[in-house]
Amino acid sequence: MSRLIVVSNRVSAPKAMGAKGAQGGLAVALSAALGDYGGIWFGWSGQETDTFTGHLDMQRNQGVTTATIDLEPQDVDEYYNGYANRTLWPLFHYRIDLTEYDRNFGEGYERVNARFADSVGPLIEPGDLVWIQDYHLLPLASLLRGKGLKNRIGLFLHTPWPPTRLLVTLPFHERLVTSMLACDLIGFQTSEWLESFLHYIDKELGLPVSPDGEIEYEGRTIQARAFPIGIDYADFTAGAKSPEAEASYQKLRQSTRGRKVLIGVDRLDYSKGLGERLDSFGRFLTDNPEMAKDVVLLQIAPPSRGDVASYQQIREDLERKAGHINGAHADVAWVPIRYVNRGYPRTELAGFYRAADIGLVTPLRDGMNLVAKEYVAAQNPEDPGVLILSRFAGAALQMPDAVLVNPMSSEEVSIAIKYALDMSKEERIERHTKLLASVRDSNVENWTRDFIADLSGRTPAPDLI
Ligand code: G6P
Repeated sequence: MSRLIVVSNRVSAPKAMGAKGAQGGLAVALSAALGDYGGIWFGWSGQETDTFTGHLDMQRNQGVTTATIDLEPQDVDEYYNGYANRTLWPLFHYRIDLTEYDRNFGEGYERVNARFADSVGPLIEPGDLVWIQDYHLLPLASLLRGKGLKNRIGLFLHTPWPPTRLLVTLPFHERLVTSMLACDLIGFQTSEWLESFLHYIDKELGLPVSPDGEIEYEGRTIQARAFPIGIDYADFTAGAKSPEAEASYQKLRQSTRGRKVLIGVDRLDYSKGLGERLDSFGRFLTDNPEMAKDVVLLQIAPPSRGDVASYQQIREDLERKAGHINGAHADVAWVPIRYVNRGYPRTELAGFYRAADIGLVTPLRDGMNLVAKEYVAAQNPEDPGVLILSRFAGAALQMPDAVLVNPMSSEEVSIAIKYALDMSKEERIERHTKLLASVRDSNVENWTRDFIADLSGRTPAPDLI
């Protein structure tokens, strides 16, 4: 069996037993796949060094080998904070108003991708499957090919892929997308992002694309496909039954004293629609004064990418907005919004989700959104809460039984909150049963299995043998 080489910006080594919930669902799944196939997980250590040496920190934990490199401060500025998070992230989330184009960012991005190729290249043996993750590393496959690598290479994009009209605002977009075609397999979260990608390939690059997503380029065939990611259902639901989850369930229920609880859990990112969500909740309070004192919104929003100005800005905006809405509506015994700027282990989150009557998941744009799936998985099937989900999250395509909303419309979201609060137990159970079946079946183990099967299953194109 082939080994697996996973390459991603961040590497999450499996944690020792007992640190339950410390590793995210994706990391758990990739670790499990690496445990099965053997191989290496390679990426940036998250640390900086004055001068790049290419030194590999190799570690083995719980049967998984990780290899990481440190980057120079300039690399982190230009590649991670710059091109990845100030150029590609906003552009891929349709925010060309926030997208910054800076030549140094582009150069830093290429330099770091080349450093990745130089460092991981020698670790790859003939026959290994190479699986690259996300927008940080779009040109990596072509840099590896430049070193003579003939292995099967796959790339999975966790974010949306933007419409062609937006993508062409990126200087050198053709070069970036063409570099991705050094892969054998390119995966997207949903058919929507896949269609946008194929539209670009057809309209901008003029390459032949078959109806099932095969692209012909320089005598090779590249397969593009949607692989919707899921949660690690078994592990998450086991965690939801743990004492930690029970304790956080009790904590939230007791402190809200019989009120209805709405929950939002998001990295503090402008793509998550947090400002719009608070506005919608404020509107609900204003429009439904008779219900207002009986609801509480718990918004958990751990800070993220704090070196980037747009993230500092959104943090300030949200603090102001939460304060403003609380100031307008609170009384001595009740504050409508609990706004918490920290993260929690997944087991504790599971307890909070279960205690919440409504999961409010309203990103303006999201590749998939696993909070929606975790919320559903954590519910008591006999008395489940209601998921309110943005139409613009990739997850909406798989979860049509959620209450789907346009997160831009505070009126629509406010009406959806009222609808969810009034919903009969029968309807809640009916919706939840269908949602749960899809969350259970389209889990992250199946996602890794399907991607790896496609990556390994096809015979290599003749010029790559
Ligand atoms: C998104 C991206 C991931 C990224 C994560 C956290 O989900 O698709 O690649 O790791 O956000 O962002 P960060 O910048 O903290 O790694």
